Amino acid sequence: MGMEGHKTLSGSKGYHRSVLLKEVLGALNIRDAWYLDCTLGDGGHTIEIIKRGGKVVGIDVDPQALGRVRKRFGIEEIDRNKWKLIVGNFRDLKKLILKQTDLKDQKFAGAKSYLAGAIFDLGVSSLQLETPSRGFSFSKIGPLDMRMDPTLEVRALDLINAGGRKQLYELFKNLGEEKYSKRLADHMVSARQVGVKIETTKDLADLVEQVVRKHGRLHPATKIFQALRIAVNDELNALKEGLDQVISLIDKNGHIIVISFHSLEDRIVKETFRAWSAQGWGQILTKKPIVPTLEEININPRARSAKMRVFERS
Ligand SMILES: C[S@@+](CC[C@H](N)C(=O)[O-])C[C@H]1O[C@@H](n2cnc3c(N)ncnc32)[C@H](O)[C@@H]1O
Repeated sequence: MGMEGHKTLSGSKGYHRSVLLKEVLGALNIRDAWYLDCTLGDGGHTIEIIKRGGKVVGIDVDPQALGRVRKRFGIEEIDRNKWKLIVGNFRDLKKLILKQTDLKDQKFAGAKSYLAGAIFDLGVSSLQLETPSRGFSFSKIGPLDMRMDPTLEVRALDLINAGGRKQLYELFKNLGEEKYSKRLADHMVSARQVGVKIETTKDLADLVEQVVRKHGRLHPATKIFQALRIAVNDELNALKEGLDQVISLIDKNGHIIVISFHSLEDRIVKETFRAWSAQGWGQILTKKPIVPTLEEININPRARSAKMRVFERS
């Protein structure tokens, strides 16, 4: 999930509303085999894969996500043999997966590789966005944290307070694609110099609003929050590293699905799929990305920037 600009994010029963769910399920060709959900979140994609006869290894870097999913799957009585949850970053995918002995059994049972398909549904979950203490949202007052993985050492407030004019300018421009990057970087450094504290989501949103007027639907701080979140979680490098590893874990005819929420992510997915295709590792099934229907966007405005790409392993 990338941008905000919505009132409520959660789906039924307070869970994250899964984006492009029907399209993901349609693309996975679900059968009785192990699939990989690299971004478990509230388990919305995973639970539907299991209900259609699949089994899922679910990974999330946020331990809170795993706790919630265990509880949810318990309440919904999802067969315990059909899912495994792993806490970790998908940038360490191979290491995390190869520890799973049952998957090795599957490989020896005839499959050439370990998994029948994979999904990456990038960004943050509703739980993360709506919890003020996580600091992801300019509409919730909390510490400017933004770590998906609570063991990371650098929070957004550390970055924003340590950066000089040039560093902040490059951060806002490169990771936020923010038009007013220079003015914003100058304003923040000048504010710090006269003793203004930038410690909470509100501190930052207020400073941005002093420079950038609201224009259209998006909050003026949207891109600055995006830039910081990407930097804190090193999201673009994690995506590249995760994709580099997933390709060798997926069996013949298996599909790799990536849902991205902004152009920086989508570019990486597009270029990686092209490179895989050029190597002869399979084919791109989505010449143009699949996007949500207007009906889905009406129900879930957060879905509006989603782009889904699918690669078939050969
Ligand atoms: C948009 S949510 C996924 C929602 C899920 N598909 C559902 O339907 O409930 C993204 C999740 O991916 C996790 N995540 C993001 N980057 C990650 C990474 N590099 N490694 C592991 N998990 C990551 C986040 O912590 C978050 O819980």
